Amino acid sequence: MTEVGERGSAAGGRGSADLAPEAFVEYGKRLVEWIGEFLANPERYPVLARVKPGDIAASLPLSPPARGERLDAILADFETKILPGITHWNHPGFFAYFSISASAPGILGELLASALNVNAMLWRTSPAATELELRALDWLRQLLGLADDWHGHINDTASISTMLALAAAREAAGLDVRERGMAGRGDLPVLRVYCSEHAHSSVDKGAITLGIGHENVVHVAADGEFRMRPDLLREAIAADLARGMLPLAVVATVGTTSTTSIDPVREIAGVIREVAATGSGANPELRTSARPWLHIDGAYGGTAAVVPEMRGVLDGVDLADSFVVNPHKWLFTPIDCSALYVKRPEILKRAFSLVPEYLVTREAAPVENLMDYGVQLGRRFRALKLWMVIRAFGAEGLAERIRAHCALARTFAGWVEAARCWEVVAPVPFSTVCFRYAPEGVSERNLETINTRILDRVNDSGSVFLSHTKLNGRYVLRLAIGNIRTEERHVAQAWRLLREAAA
Ligand SMILES: Cc1ncc(COP(=O)(O)O)c(C=O)c1O
Repeated sequence: MTEVGERGSAAGGRGSADLAPEAFVEYGKRLVEWIGEFLANPERYPVLARVKPGDIAASLPLSPPARGERLDAILADFETKILPGITHWNHPGFFAYFSISASAPGILGELLASALNVNAMLWRTSPAATELELRALDWLRQLLGLADDWHGHINDTASISTMLALAAAREAAGLDVRERGMAGRGDLPVLRVYCSEHAHSSVDKGAITLGIGHENVVHVAADGEFRMRPDLLREAIAADLARGMLPLAVVATVGTTSTTSIDPVREIAGVIREVAATGSGANPELRTSARPWLHIDGAYGGTAAVVPEMRGVLDGVDLADSFVVNPHKWLFTPIDCSALYVKRPEILKRAFSLVPEYLVTREAAPVENLMDYGVQLGRRFRALKLWMVIRAFGAEGLAERIRAHCALARTFAGWVEAARCWEVVAPVPFSTVCFRYAPEGVSERNLETINTRILDRVNDSGSVFLSHTKLNGRYVLRLAIGNIRTEERHVAQAWRLLREAAA
């Protein structure tokens, strides 16, 4: 970044303690130009940072500066010291984990949100932040084709959304945990949470956080296509009820992390209905008539429902109690932005609303105060970037991009299937492909070593970044397409590098 003159120094300007307005504009222009160039040509940087552990820390002073420094110097250090340690999630060759995008409208939304620096804790502390959040999430609900009785609430991540959903489940069970806690209570049954063996670890973390206990998360086995087996869920719940435990919640996933498999939500909801008819209420010791809460984790896969012909991926979700989808995963919204939908918002409120005198407000009409729906008080104005993304792309534009990602994934899977010694190891319902190099007659152990080496070589290239997982004990590679700038040539490059690495 080129230097801005004296006029732009932090100490300059009209006696302002902050950067002078003129300097802000000049630096701002330069930064926006830099970002524009970065977005136009992200491939100029290696996608996976090439630094060693400690390299970046070693380049940074151990103590803060005593006196303010010029932004020129700070920005120069950003380029020389920080940028080399960036793994570029906004790179079209990023195929690891779940690939994400900060689209241009989303970046602009972040910029505005920072400038406004709104804390959307109460309606009063920024009416637009509250009302826009409710509206943007209702738009997102409509885009996903969900029923109109969902209430949306933005959190930072799906992990927090799922934890809040489990807290709501506990509140709905009427166990008086909010007031009395859980420790030392002889009247409280063991609470159980069920999810598939392929569910995200955030389910386990939510249970740990809420004092449910990790061993009370039941990982139900999946079928040959990595989907939770409802028959085994039914058996697990029946066995727990027979032992006097309380089936608190079931978490089904639409787009599991490893393979993006889709749990049979409708059948799972059916199992829960059966439990409601015959289950926990039949055990008088539990003193609760609640049925298990059904939470759907659609953090990644849920977004695909914006494509009209893919709506079916959310089949049965309207039967659930809560649902999470992350616009920051596959809806081109800069991280962080997770949308939690609940059918009964009053339960979330019952779990979390606590209003000390200094936060009491009186408005001319009833209002929503977003602090009532979770743990945090202060909250960022995340709805702004989501609203800008939805408006800038429109329903058709969003669908078109997601459709294209899914088509690219099918193309890649086709190349793998057609190649000798390579195999696709899981169905490809979305834009992620699990595959591996598997020449005949090589032991599982050696296949793991070979595929690890292939992955390392490919990732060393700097042009693509893939990750791995294990499925039924077998080490497999994953190629996840989700960046807005990814084109067929990037996927083709990944495939070329993979084959070269295997040769
Ligand atoms: C299915 C699923 N659920 C939840 C999460 C957690 O998402 P977050 O990082 O927003 O907490 C992930 C992350 O990849 C995921 O794949």
